[in-house]
Amino acid sequence: MYADRINSLPPYLFATIDEAKAVVKAKGVDVIDLGVGDPDMPTPEHIVESMCEAVRDPATHRYPSYTGMIEFREAVANWCKDTRGLELDAATETLTLIGSKEGVAHIPLAFVNPGDVALIPDPGYPVYKIGTQFAGGEPHVMPLLEENGFLPDFDAIPADKLAKAKLMFLNYPNNPTSATADVKFFKEVVEFAKNNDITVVHDNAYSEMVYDDYTAPSFLSVDGAMDVGMELYSMSKTYNMTGWRLAFAVGNKDLIAGFGKVKSNIDSGAFDAVQRAGITAVSSSQQCVTDMNSIYQKRRDALLKGLRGIGLDAKAPKATFYMWVPTPDGYDSMGFSKLLLEESGIVATPGVGFGEYGEGYIRFALTQSVERIEEAVARMDKLTI
Ligand SMILES: Cc1ncc(COP(=O)(O)O)c(C=O)c1O
Repeated sequence: MYADRINSLPPYLFATIDEAKAVVKAKGVDVIDLGVGDPDMPTPEHIVESMCEAVRDPATHRYPSYTGMIEFREAVANWCKDTRGLELDAATETLTLIGSKEGVAHIPLAFVNPGDVALIPDPGYPVYKIGTQFAGGEPHVMPLLEENGFLPDFDAIPADKLAKAKLMFLNYPNNPTSATADVKFFKEVVEFAKNNDITVVHDNAYSEMVYDDYTAPSFLSVDGAMDVGMELYSMSKTYNMTGWRLAFAVGNKDLIAGFGKVKSNIDSGAFDAVQRAGITAVSSSQQCVTDMNSIYQKRRDALLKGLRGIGLDAKAPKATFYMWVPTPDGYDSMGFSKLLLEESGIVATPGVGFGEYGEGYIRFALTQSVERIEEAVARMDKLTI
């Protein structure tokens, strides 16, 4: 009944975890969920207010434009200039997305022919691989190893794969490892992409989630990046707007046009009222982002202290709301996450769910209060590991 592309899919990781969580919850366990990367705090009030106003305006009730409201795209172009010095032409170098997941899933349709290779990070956000497969492309895994700072090693890509490579996904600050990349690395990426004729998609979904005075550089701020790439930004994590489905792509105008062509044949754009709220988000004071980061930083520090206290080799991330922690001796990632759920009522994500090179790690998301995180650590302390 199903097409091969569906039959060959593994179950979506978070759906599987949800099922296991439901079983434990049904037994009456008070589950502490540090699994999925979905902010627990509400969307800031001024953004909600703006949406309420917009939704009452019948002008927002009609089909949106395929490429997105020009006012939203002008606002995001200004935000990119203010926050990272990018000079973008809103009309040709920006595109509204219905969440960056939508972008990631559809981009390969624009740039990958059946048989072409897309280079994808492993561990990584699972949609890079699935989106490539849906387009008939062949995902080639670039291992992200701790000894390389979780950056890919381009020299390790076999020549035959490189010859067929058309597209590369990157993501820094990174999910799930929380690694960051510097400008020097992005310069290498541009050179590699130019030498091998590869389109680069830098997924910057965690661009604003930063700690300890760190700022995450934009891939597009590097000389030559606008010739070879696009960058995806998302409202989801930055403004606690995961449910609203709003993101945007910026970058090379021919790439944006090609991607826009695919989208105009698939969806009918993001709800205008949501885009108006998006304008408010990017055009107002960014204090709400700073405030959220300081809350996440306190949670990070509480989890770090707790995990180290029980002997796990946890490190403080400079960005993202994830902690990527090696599993204790004797446990693989599935085994340790099962132990945490069944014995302690804690949900964490097994590293192997992000690819084979995620084995040996577990990911905690900082989506609970400091008190709940301390409670989680106290429960873990009782485990014999
Ligand atoms: C690396 C990465 N990219 C993209 C997304 C999708 O974000 P959204 O579709 O909400 O913009 C996520 C969500 O967790 C992510 O971790």
